[in-house]
Amino acid sequence: MVHLPGESGGTKDTLAERPWLRHSACALVGLRPALAQHTAEEHAAFRKWAAGCKCVVEIGVAEGVSALALREGMAEDGTLYLIDPFHLSRMPMLNFIKRVARRTVNGSARGKVVWIETFSEDAARSWNEAIDLLLIDGDHAEAAVERDWQDWGRFVPPGGTVIFHDARIFQNGWTSSEYGPVRFVNRFFRSGGAPDWTIVEEIHSLFVVRRNN
Ligand SMILES: C[S@@+](CC[C@H](N)C(=O)[O-])C[C@H]1O[C@@H](n2cnc3c(N)ncnc32)[C@H](O)[C@@H]1O
Repeated sequence: MVHLPGESGGTKDTLAERPWLRHSACALVGLRPALAQHTAEEHAAFRKWAAGCKCVVEIGVAEGVSALALREGMAEDGTLYLIDPFHLSRMPMLNFIKRVARRTVNGSARGKVVWIETFSEDAARSWNEAIDLLLIDGDHAEAAVERDWQDWGRFVPPGGTVIFHDARIFQNGWTSSEYGPVRFVNRFFRSGGAPDWTIVEEIHSLFVVRRNN
């Protein structure tokens, strides 16, 4: 079970009243669903852009809700590569976030899933496969978003798609002009600095580009 911000239901109110429920251990023992860090509309967009893709890469998995959307959407014979060091756990031996992520992603049996438990910059060093869909949602510092773009965007062939999360300001949203992804896409894509790429969708905090054929 997952919870998407904006969905009807009591999870949001419950979390406000009992913030300790945010701890991933609570999801593991069934006190709350896995938490998405994106909206319901973004969730639908992840699934839509993954449709038919055989090689999907997500940088930044957290509790695995966006990864589940990608898995549900991708080709039946596709592979979903999930990159996250899960270094934010306060109890690394137990690492509840990682365990919740694995359970969430197992909510679909579609295709194959490969977990890469390391920083994206390290994973990029040995990567050599063409990527149909890349979701960048890891380290949100502007320089880190740019580094993910440089490291991973080059593996996306013509017709392939890259999604940046937290990269737009939208009504009642959480992003601001100071967000690293917002600053990067504004500087790089909106200034005409990427002639080989076309902006194909903007929804909530998602900024989607496709490499021209
Ligand atoms: C915003 S959360 C991802 C949310 C998730 N995509 C969703 O929508 O539910 C960011 C995640 O990025 C991971 N992360 C941070 N730096 C990273 C890096 N350099 N490489 C890969 N993952 C990273 C963190 O561990 C965290 O789980």
